[in-house]
Amino acid sequence: MGTVFPLMLSSESLQNKVVVITGGGTGLGKSMAQACLQLGAKVLITSRKEEVLRATVQELKELTGADITYCVCDVRDSKQMELLLAYTLEQFSKVDILVNNAAGNFISPTERLSTKAFDIIVDIVLKGTYNGVLTFGKHWIEVGQKATILSIVTTYATTGSAFVVPSATAKAGIVALTKSLAVEWGRYGIRLNAIAPGPFPTEGAWSRLFPEFVASKLNPENRIPTGRFGRHEELMNLVTYLLSDYSEYINGEIVTIDGGEWLQGAGEFNTLLDLSADDWNLVEKQIRGK
Ligand code: HXC
Ligand code: NAP
Repeated sequence: MGTVFPLMLSSESLQNKVVVITGGGTGLGKSMAQACLQLGAKVLITSRKEEVLRATVQELKELTGADITYCVCDVRDSKQMELLLAYTLEQFSKVDILVNNAAGNFISPTERLSTKAFDIIVDIVLKGTYNGVLTFGKHWIEVGQKATILSIVTTYATTGSAFVVPSATAKAGIVALTKSLAVEWGRYGIRLNAIAPGPFPTEGAWSRLFPEFVASKLNPENRIPTGRFGRHEELMNLVTYLLSDYSEYINGEIVTIDGGEWLQGAGEFNTLLDLSADDWNLVEKQIRGK
């Protein structure tokens, strides 16, 4: 059983909100479900594996005593997405928030991928997101209800990254979708934002992106100025703020939370962080000597 997150918002901040979280049975989605429950929301989690969803609902009910349920849904299938919306309305009479968190990913040289392998990632990540956005968005527009959509992307959605090309392509699509609809649907009271996390340890991501050999080669913590991976509660404080009415004036933003990781990879001279004081004495001498 997990422990309660230390959250900055007061415990009624999401009172009366109904939140649907895709991929909510594991990893960051599960943490998001917990954080929303801690702040008074009613939560529905969804993914493909019923036994995982059932176990998470049970665990989070015991931990928070709050109102959580699940519905099996493959986000790639628009019909299943419509059934998910119908089930949510049946259970809670309304829905206020959609979190697009479900994803598929693994590292591989792109030339090794079949079109099916490329499809599978893009379909879960991008198609899954626009299926949710269209289904829930149309409902909110029809009933005239204010609502919020939050999507989880990643920093390489804007920088790109070798060896995760289907994921980078799909996440970049979500960024475009988020910024476009933030403008188009603002008039309906629907706001859309995204979060771009750096590495936050989860079983799902670590097993597919940092297998032992890669972890030892990459030494991923060294790539982060703050010298450590993100903590789930740090991300949950950002997530719950962006879902709450306190952030009502934030619309169309992609908020990075990565300890400065992508900037460290980008700056021309950032690799000189490895130089010792003696190295710098030598460098200074060489420069001043010119
Ligand atoms: C090359 C591969 C492969 C690999 C699968 N395939 N793994 N190709 N290298 N390592 C190919 C298969 O051969 C097949 O193509 C196609 O991909 C589909 O594979 P299946 O195993 O049949 O698919 P499925 O069982 O549906 O599983 C989908 C999955 C799996 C995406 C492959 O990993 C999954 O269920 N993932 C869900 C959770 C997840 O990925 N979480 C991590 C998110 S982390 P062929 O042509 O051979 O049939 C994340 C973090 C981002 O996004 C940022 C971090 C900093
Ligand atoms: P995770 O635990 O593997 O979460 C992915 C979830 O997506 C799983 O619960 C999975 O459940 C669900 N899913 C996959 N395919 C689905 C489908 N077709 N329909 C419905 N649900 C599906 O990994 P995570 O690390 O928590 O990742 C969560 C999100 O954060 C992802 O969007 C990821 O890209 C993003 N992210 C993570 C990190 C990180 O460091 N962890 C960094 C940046 C961004 P089922 O298998 O049961 O369907």
